[in-house]
Amino acid sequence: MAVFVQITDLHLRPPGILTLGRIDTDRFLVDAIDAINQRHSEIDAVIVTGDVTDLGEEDAYNRAAMLLARFGAPVIAIPGNHDSTATLRAAFAAFPGFADEPVPGKACHAHTVAGVTLIALDTSVDQIAENVHHGELGEAQLAWLDATLKTAGPTLIAMHHPPFESGIGFMDAIGLNDARAFAKVLARHENVLRIVCGHVHRTIVSEVSGVPVMAIPGVAHQVSMALDETVPMGLAMEPPAYGVHIVENGRAVSHIGYVERYGTPVLFENNEPVANDG
Ligand SMILES: [Fe+2]
Repeated sequence: MAVFVQITDLHLRPPGILTLGRIDTDRFLVDAIDAINQRHSEIDAVIVTGDVTDLGEEDAYNRAAMLLARFGAPVIAIPGNHDSTATLRAAFAAFPGFADEPVPGKACHAHTVAGVTLIALDTSVDQIAENVHHGELGEAQLAWLDATLKTAGPTLIAMHHPPFESGIGFMDAIGLNDARAFAKVLARHENVLRIVCGHVHRTIVSEVSGVPVMAIPGVAHQVSMALDETVPMGLAMEPPAYGVHIVENGRAVSHIGYVERYGTPVLFENNEPVANDG
């Protein structure tokens, strides 16, 4: 059995600076790491699916690297549309996967974790330099993915931009440009069990070439569920969350855990509530 914890969209600013002038993303990340460490004793790897920082500052990456080192398990990270790949790579040099660059200009990497292949794809373009937020894998990375899948066992793919349209217009406008080409590569293989993503700051489940795809909420702010004009586009302070993906006997099972606690657990015995000290 392999247990992967996923966190996403940390959006850190340098210590002491609130994200968007109002969100204490540092506190949110500390709370998430503490909650996960308290509840999950056996984690084979932690996956960080991008937007490690909000504006790509070096101090924010150094702070993220320091906090993420509190996990006892290896931390496998990829950039998102709010990241600077070069700055992330430098600050995360000691993290798995950043020593190699199998695709020039892309921070993708593959790992074997408890018998499962974890392929971390880089959908980011350099938004800090170009001020764009869509995602793109590119032909070279798709060729590397195709070759890597040929020899891989049961596989989990992690990427920032989801390879599907969410129905939330302002997020789909900055979606993955080459999702169709990605779907074609996936269709050539049968060993991908699950694709896990961030970017949309919500729990959204879809499918690509028969492979279940799951996007999870961020550890801080979320995106409003603006499926029609009755809900304004914007950010929403909905519950911070993380994912737990368990791979066993060739199947992946995915859970969402909430960082905050919502009251004392109510325990049951013989269909009756019983007192607890929780
Ligand atoms: Fe984000």
